Amino acid sequence: MAEQLADLTVGLIGAGNIAHVHVAAWKALGARILVHSVEGAEALAEEYGLEVAPTLDEVLAQAEFVDIVTPSPTHKELTLAAIAAGKNVICEKPLTLTAADSHEVMAAAAAAGVKVYPAHVVRYFPEYKAAYDAVHEGRIGPIAVARFFRQASSPAGSDWYRDVARSGGVIMDLMVHDLDQAQWLCGPVTSVYAVQNPPTVDGVSPVNVAAHVTLTHESGAVSLCRATWGVPGTPFRTGFHLAGASGVLKHTSSADTGFIEELQEGGGDVDLLIPENALGESPYLTQLRELAIGLRGGPEPRVVGADGAAAVYLAEAARASMESGQTIDMKSFTSSGAVA
Ligand SMILES: NC(=O)c1ccc[n+]([C@@H]2O[C@H](COP(=O)([O-])OP(=O)(O)OC[C@H]3O[C@@H](n4cnc5c(N)ncnc54)[C@H](O)[C@@H]3O)[C@@H](O)[C@H]2O)c1
Repeated sequence: MAEQLADLTVGLIGAGNIAHVHVAAWKALGARILVHSVEGAEALAEEYGLEVAPTLDEVLAQAEFVDIVTPSPTHKELTLAAIAAGKNVICEKPLTLTAADSHEVMAAAAAAGVKVYPAHVVRYFPEYKAAYDAVHEGRIGPIAVARFFRQASSPAGSDWYRDVARSGGVIMDLMVHDLDQAQWLCGPVTSVYAVQNPPTVDGVSPVNVAAHVTLTHESGAVSLCRATWGVPGTPFRTGFHLAGASGVLKHTSSADTGFIEELQEGGGDVDLLIPENALGESPYLTQLRELAIGLRGGPEPRVVGADGAAAVYLAEAARASMESGQTIDMKSFTSSGAVA
């Protein structure tokens, strides 16, 4: 496997929170990393021994493919620039902020003959993969009701997160992971109903906000997704409870290992945007290895561009449901292309 990724030069675009996690994974895979960012590239390069590319054009000229870890509203433009340069792309979730934009990106990639893989890392968390395997092996029979929850601290450090026009809000930014899971585990969705409390006012997501989305699947299964951006310091927690005809699968991240770090210098006011790892290999490393091998002509990874577009489509339908107070019929729902 190591030789499959020999002599790899990755163009990392962005140098914020999640960049650190991607850099650790790329370094573990032995990649050369060229980083380009509006801010923070030099500091990141110094911390990890990377090379800085002063311009986007330089990254696109030198890198084998790009890994986009910039704020969500920039994903479309940067992905299209990479595609225009003939480069394959790995892009953090959400792929774009609207389904119309995701389809534009995927159509451009198809026309250029390049690949775009969205980084839906939850598919690489061992508990979620184990659930997927168990469901697809028929171990619990057809799923009747699937519940997913995901909570994190309300994002404080980067101003764009709480600006719903730029992040899409808690559903597009955080719940998008579980919308993807629901579809991965239970299949295509026929209707979407969503509520959020308290509501967004003047385009700014409240601190301590919870959203609930109900998905009805073609199979008849129902998924109930809850996502919370809690008060600063809220621990990152996720979980699921999948009830099938012949059994139940459940997981809560807080109970998975019993291993807890309580450090005197661990700040309570930092952004807690990234789930703690289970013991064992980082799921971000598992993810980037599989995606990079896919980009080098290896097996198709477990998540591809169409999955990223589908998750965005569900999040956009959830927003439409909140705005109208109605259940959205996915047979007739079309992306407005408008972010907020
Ligand atoms: N999968 C996960 O677990 C996970 C966790 C956190 C964030 N994310 C996603 O990762 C992305 C980045 O989030 P973050 O918290 O690291 O953001 P951030 O605000 O901390 O960092 C963004 C970085 O991108 C740079 N940047 C902004 N616009 C740019 C542009 N046009 N060109 C080049 N650089 C640019 C900024 O200067 C900054 O260095 C978001 O889409 C977010 O949803 C995913």
